[in-house]
Amino acid sequence: MNDRPAPRRRFAEGTTVADLEAYMVPFVRHLGFKLNTEREFAHEVLQSEIEILDRDGDVYCPCRVRTGDPKEDIKIICPCIPFYLEQFNAMRKCWCGLFIREDVLDGAEMMGVIEEPEGPIEVRAAHVEDIAASRGLRVKIGKREIALFRTGNEVFALSNLCRHAFGPLSEGYVEGYEVMCPWHGWRYDIRTGHTDHPNADVQTHPVTVRDGVVFVTVPKPTE
Ligand code: SF4
Ligand code: FES
Repeated sequence: MNDRPAPRRRFAEGTTVADLEAYMVPFVRHLGFKLNTEREFAHEVLQSEIEILDRDGDVYCPCRVRTGDPKEDIKIICPCIPFYLEQFNAMRKCWCGLFIREDVLDGAEMMGVIEEPEGPIEVRAAHVEDIAASRGLRVKIGKREIALFRTGNEVFALSNLCRHAFGPLSEGYVEGYEVMCPWHGWRYDIRTGHTDHPNADVQTHPVTVRDGVVFVTVPKPTE
């Protein structure tokens, strides 16, 4: 018998916390997670999701920031675990702590923030192996176009748009720590975004690599 949970459906108006729990718990069990054992906390998070559902039309995560890009934002509709499975497995919880790994006995240590963070957010951007050595990879994070570069084991993230005439730096030529824009040859340091042209440095973003996954930290997107 197939005991897989039914595919995700959109929740209707009038959905209750009990409805969410009834749908989500079997779904996350299949992924190795369970509801936080702190029932009051779990209830509060689900209640926030109901408020978001009533206001914004779906159960967007209460502790993540939406980008405004529907293709991106679908990844933070609860339960978002399939999109962040490796990371949540490493953390032993989802971002908010609504769900914890099945082997965690005491969910009290795993309660996360449930307000939207004010500061920068860390976003899963690619697998290291997606970035060919000494080549660029264009990724979109919300409305931002970012070029990822890899030299050896180091990964760097900078704005993909050349400050001369918006050439795509991800398609540029990389030598050492320098990328040359494919359109007219401006050169940028991939570690700092610096170019010798005045006031034309491109923005860089902090990068962390965990278990082969590249996470890029970007400022909180504007809605
Ligand atoms: S982080 Fe947790 S609460 Fe937020 S959408 Fe993902 S599973 Fe739901
Ligand atoms: S657009 Fe990059 S050098 Fe002209």
